[in-house]
Amino acid sequence: MSTERWNHNIHYHRLLLAAVPAGGRVLDVGCGEGMLTREVAARAAHVLGVDLDRPSIELARATTAQANVEYRCADVLVDAFDGQVFDAVVSVATLHHLGTRAGLQRMAALLRPGGVLGVVGLASSRLPQDLPWEIAAAIGTRLLKLRHTYWEHAAPKVWNSPDDYGSVRRIASECLPGASFRRLLLWRYILLWQKPQGLGVAGALAWRGPWRGGGE
Ligand SMILES: C[S@@+](CC[C@H](N)C(=O)[O-])C[C@H]1O[C@@H](n2cnc3c(N)ncnc32)[C@H](O)[C@@H]1O
Repeated sequence: MSTERWNHNIHYHRLLLAAVPAGGRVLDVGCGEGMLTREVAARAAHVLGVDLDRPSIELARATTAQANVEYRCADVLVDAFDGQVFDAVVSVATLHHLGTRAGLQRMAALLRPGGVLGVVGLASSRLPQDLPWEIAAAIGTRLLKLRHTYWEHAAPKVWNSPDDYGSVRRIASECLPGASFRRLLLWRYILLWQKPQGLGVAGALAWRGPWRGGGE
């Protein structure tokens, strides 16, 4: 059995790491105790982990030795981030805490033109149509727990997403035209998107996406 920490979120870190441009400035939204933040730091120039939960941020600071990592205890939906925009924004298991539409709008606004958004998120299953997914996820989890040491993070959790997979896909396509959405085996989905080029810095800071003036 591997002694490395494993859970359903960590299982999909590699998908986000593959999407992060090497050498860029990255924001990890809802970083918890910073496990993904530290992994991203191995390939990025700088990573800022942001989380609302002070004990998680304190733990993250205490367990991170890399000089190119910073943490901020703040609400990503309201913090101004000193006017910064990022080459990539990543987030694991946090979008449903923020509200899918508000969270995607905020993360998109924090990207520079051409920047990349990568979200691994949770959505609700609908029964009976999602039963095959539920069974596959339960079997997959049992098998993976035989091979890995399960680790439960201490960061705040919200188990129930108000949105099902179809709703998240629809909201993402409305907010982030051209985004790719893939449902994953272990009760997760991945959403990847590249912000259109050519807005300029002022445009990037002001950008609110195609919902401006009309959305919910
Ligand atoms: C389920 S945890 C995931 C933590 C980490 N990404 C992981 O995979 O272990 C969700 C995190 O989102 C944080 N969070 C929720 N709402 C937030 C907000 N508005 N701004 C910043 N962080 C937030 C919570 O404090 C919590 O640490």
